[in-house]
Amino acid sequence: MLKDRTHGGVIYFDNAATSFPKPQCVTDAVIRYMTQIGANPGRSGHKMAIEAGQIVYKTRKSIATLFGLRNPMHVIFTSNATEALNLAIKGVLEKGDHAVTSSMEHNSTIRPLHEMEKDGTISLSIIQADKTGILDPQKIRRAITTKTKAIIINHASNVIGCIQPIREIGKICRESGIIFIVDCAQSAGVVPIDIDRDNIDILAFAGHKGLYGPTGTGGMVISDGFDFKRIKPLKYGGTGSFSDKIEQPDFLPDRFESGTLNVAGLNGLLAGSKYIQKREGGIERILEHKTELQNYFIQKAETFVKDFYCYSSSQLPSTSVIAFKINSYSVSETTQILSDRYGIMSRQGLHCSPLAHKTIGTFPEGTLRFGFSIFNKKEEIDLAVQALKSVSEGKRT
Ligand SMILES: Cc1ncc(COP(=O)(O)O)c(C=O)c1O
Repeated sequence: MLKDRTHGGVIYFDNAATSFPKPQCVTDAVIRYMTQIGANPGRSGHKMAIEAGQIVYKTRKSIATLFGLRNPMHVIFTSNATEALNLAIKGVLEKGDHAVTSSMEHNSTIRPLHEMEKDGTISLSIIQADKTGILDPQKIRRAITTKTKAIIINHASNVIGCIQPIREIGKICRESGIIFIVDCAQSAGVVPIDIDRDNIDILAFAGHKGLYGPTGTGGMVISDGFDFKRIKPLKYGGTGSFSDKIEQPDFLPDRFESGTLNVAGLNGLLAGSKYIQKREGGIERILEHKTELQNYFIQKAETFVKDFYCYSSSQLPSTSVIAFKINSYSVSETTQILSDRYGIMSRQGLHCSPLAHKTIGTFPEGTLRFGFSIFNKKEEIDLAVQALKSVSEGKRT
């Protein structure tokens, strides 16, 4: 067993799935809502409901600031990035449209697109990334047809951490009048994003990863200049506004936010979003820190772990999502040993991204994945390398 541990006796490297631990201010904010505020925002005029409404508004504002958005009402809360991507994809694509996506997408993009292709609503082009997971914007340009309505791209890979040239791809979209939808599930809070500068029309984010909010938080952000009426709602229902009408309200955010929001989660997300934005050096420093941790791990593991093979590059900026394996060991066995014997939490397999694994040549087994957070330290990486070294020198499968 490893001696030095943090976070309640474990080393947590599964931050690409969801971050842990959360900053104390996030936990405090969730508890404050649960114990002192409690009410439903936008549904009544009493002071508890008003305070709940203020939480939601402040969270919108903080998320808007994070992405360089002027109008906080263009921030739509959903329960995760998957729901936001479904809303954006199903909301903009109509019968006869063509869409372009990539071989590095998460199933939360590929599955809704595939369903729409299968039922004959759209046609779809999937652009192949190179072995390092990077897309060539010119390949995307060449896939555009007169029917192309939207291009949907994953900003940062949940499999190998590489970051796509989204500004350049967005420029191609702007020049061609195509809607650019970006999956920022892994990049929000890790890579600086400015919705205008990066030429994004709609982005999806997860609140529970790099923003350190609770699970059950996420959202869709619509750029200030984009006509939101081009997006159909995914859900219809109560909004607390215009209750005399049976039509869905056609203003933001109510057009897309039916049903009671996860206010406890949003108060946590507000605390998490403020926490990372106030950190010294801001998001730029977070990216540098994560790249440093990634390079430290790769360099150490390559030196000490027998048969270590890494698919993530130490040459490029990275969200510190690292795909690797110890050759001759099954990834599921290695993950299990890391958890059971060493208290190290990692993730094995395909990470909901079969096409990305085909791209890097690791389908169908997948890889082991470490994802570091702002709280991980080099000492934890040293312990993990020590553990991997022991595994690599031990029993073969
Ligand atoms: C790139 C990417 N997109 C989308 C998602 C879906 O996020 P959520 O779990 O918040 O729905 C994930 C989750 O891991 C992801 O990594």
